[in-house]
Amino acid sequence: MTTIGSTTTESATSAPMTVPPFAVISGAQVRHALHGREKHIVELVEATYRVHGAGDSVNPPSYFLRFPDRPSSRIIALPASVGGEVRVDGLKWVSSFPENVTAGIPRASAVLILNDHDTGYPFACLESSIISATRTAASAASAADRLSRGRPRPTRVGFFGVGLIARYIHTFLVGTGWSFDEIGVHDLSADSTAGFQSYLEQSGTPGRITVHDSAEELIRGSDLVVFATVAGQPHVGDLSWFAHNPLVLHVSLRDLAPEILLASTNIVDDIEHCLKADTSPHLAERLTGSRDFLHGTLDDVLAGRVTVPADRPVVFSPFGLGVLDLAVGKYVYDDVVRRGELHVVDDFFHELSRYG
Ligand SMILES: NC(=O)c1ccc[n+]([C@@H]2O[C@H](COP(=O)([O-])OP(=O)(O)OC[C@H]3O[C@@H](n4cnc5c(N)ncnc54)[C@H](O)[C@@H]3O)[C@@H](O)[C@H]2O)c1
Repeated sequence: MTTIGSTTTESATSAPMTVPPFAVISGAQVRHALHGREKHIVELVEATYRVHGAGDSVNPPSYFLRFPDRPSSRIIALPASVGGEVRVDGLKWVSSFPENVTAGIPRASAVLILNDHDTGYPFACLESSIISATRTAASAASAADRLSRGRPRPTRVGFFGVGLIARYIHTFLVGTGWSFDEIGVHDLSADSTAGFQSYLEQSGTPGRITVHDSAEELIRGSDLVVFATVAGQPHVGDLSWFAHNPLVLHVSLRDLAPEILLASTNIVDDIEHCLKADTSPHLAERLTGSRDFLHGTLDDVLAGRVTVPADRPVVFSPFGLGVLDLAVGKYVYDDVVRRGELHVVDDFFHELSRYG
C-alpha cells in the first residue's frame, strides 16, 4: 500500500482522463476527519438536502437483502449520486445483525464505495458505520434546530432507545450549541441504559439525567424526544402522552402508531423513500389512503416553504438518504488527502488496457 497526498479524481477539466488510484480509509481515519466538526457536518448535510431538493441527485430506493435463515438480520444497499460541489457517485452497503449485541459487538457495520464522477471507477472504500451514524446525527441536529424555530427552544430532551445512534445524536446536539436542563433516558435494556448514562456523565455536559422505566414518563417529561430503538412495529400509540406538543425526532421510523402521526405535523427527508418498508409514515398512508398527513421535507423547511405550527406535535421521520453518506464520505476523503494520509492499494485495477 502506498500513501499519497493527492488524487487524479478531482478535476473534471484536467486531461487526459486517467484511472484514479484506489484507496482504503479506516474507521480511525474517518473518526479523525469528523471528530469535533459537528457544526460543519450539519452545514454539509443541509447543503446536501438542498442539492437533493433541487433535483441535482439520484437516490433510488434502497435494496433490502434479507435471509430466510436469519430473519432479524439484513444488509441494505444505498446507491446514490450527488451533484453540487460534492459531485460523486457511490454505494453504502450497511448490515444490521441485532444478535451481534449479545456478543458485545455493534449491531451495524458498513462500507462506503466512492465512484469517480468522470470515469465511474471506484476510488475509495471507507469504513462507514461512523459516516452513517454521523450523517444520521447531523440530520437529526439540523431538524431539531429548524423545526423548533417557531416554538420555545426545548430544554428537556428524552432519548427513547439509547444505542450508538442516540449517543451520536446527543454529541451532535451538544456540538451544535444545544444544552439541556433535563436529559431523560428510556431503554428496554439495562446494559444500554447504563452505557448511555456513563457516556453522558463522561461527556461532562450539563443537565440532570433521569432514567425512566416508563415510556409514558419519558415522553411526557420531554419537549424534544429522540426515538432510536430497533423496534419493527409501533409500540407507542397513546396520543395523550404528546399533549404538550413535543418535537419528535423519529429516527428509528417504526415506533409511533399512525394515529400519533395523524395528529402531528409530519416532516420527512424524502417522501418517496419514507413511505416504504413499513415505516410509521408508510402505515399512516395505508391507514388513510392518502399522503395528506405529510407537510413537507426538511428541505422545504430550510427553504421557508413550510412553517411548523407550535400548537401540535411535530414529528421528523428521516429515512436516511444515500446522498448524505456520499457527501460526508467525500468530505472525509478530501480531508485525508489534504493531510497526505491516503492509503492507496497499489495495482488495485490491473487490467487497464482494453486489448491487453
Ligand atoms: N433514519 C436513519 O437515517 C437511520 C440511520 C441509522 C440508524 N437508524 C436507526 O436507528 C436505530 C438505532 O440504531 P443503533 O445503531 O443505535 O441501534 P442499537 O442496537 O445500538 O441501539 C438500539 C437500542 O434500542 C433499544 N430498544 C429496542 N427496542 C426498544 C423499545 N421498544 N423501547 C426502548 N428501547 C428499545 C435497544 O435495547 C438498544 O439499546 C435503528 O432502528 C436504526 O435502523 C436510522
